[in-house]
Amino acid sequence: MSTAAAADAPSMRAVPPNRLIAFYRSSIGKKWIVALTGLVMVGFVVVHLIGNLQIFLPPAYINAYAAKLKSLGPVLWLFRISLFAAFVLHVINTIQLSRMNRVAKGERYVKEATVQATVASRTMFYSGLILLAFIIFHILHFTLGWIPTENIHVMDYAPEAGNAKDPLLHNVWKMLVGGFRNPFVSVFYLVSMGLLCMHLSHGVESTVQTLGLRTKPLARPARYLSWGLGWAVFLGNAAIVLAILFGFIK
Ligand code: HEM
Repeated sequence: MSTAAAADAPSMRAVPPNRLIAFYRSSIGKKWIVALTGLVMVGFVVVHLIGNLQIFLPPAYINAYAAKLKSLGPVLWLFRISLFAAFVLHVINTIQLSRMNRVAKGERYVKEATVQATVASRTMFYSGLILLAFIIFHILHFTLGWIPTENIHVMDYAPEAGNAKDPLLHNVWKMLVGGFRNPFVSVFYLVSMGLLCMHLSHGVESTVQTLGLRTKPLARPARYLSWGLGWAVFLGNAAIVLAILFGFIK
């Protein structure tokens, strides 16, 4: 660790608020925030994917799962607010870091340095921007129901939605099937999932590095973990979209 980075590193003792602010403003502090908020979002993406894969089971499963999530009430809101806060901190600190890097290194050096970099690492900022557009579209589409595709927010009687207990149930299964029958929507999702794969396949590796875990013996496993996670998320999500688009789920 350089002397400057060592001076920035968090201390285990109680840190006075002005040191916390100084840490937040330092480049190492911003890297930590980007890394930790990124991990929170990776956790969400993996859990979200596992939940969504229930589309391959009879409709009762995913509909009951969605109803269970909605029934969490304030806990769900706490979770949504935390996820949103992680997201905002991630975006703001990434933008600030890229500005700081540009100022510190100068344009010429940045251009030379990228020769060694992978496509995924060079395009992190842009893949992140497109993912931002995807998340806005996705929430307008499924959470708010403002994008007109088939069966948005249909409330079905329980037997039809596949659940015997509730009288009326949001038929999420029907909503997903209706949503991905639209080829434009499906293609947009597939492209976004490809970018998410690129973003994760570099992001997880640089998180491991920021947290100081990318030691020599761990460098290769960290790379495999990063790529494995990126591809697993891509393949899982793409399988949902393609299975519906090509009529395997209908
Ligand atoms: C094919 C892939 C995906 C499917 C089928 C899917 C499906 C869904 C569904 C059904 C909902 C809930 C809508 C409702 O309120 O009833 C939802 C919400 C959401 N999804 Fe996805 N999703 C996918 C990918 C993603 C990805 C990759 C991300 C993040 C990068 C993401 C982030 C979110 C967020 C933030 C919400 C809002 C959560 C909330 O309102 O509590 N989704 N998604």
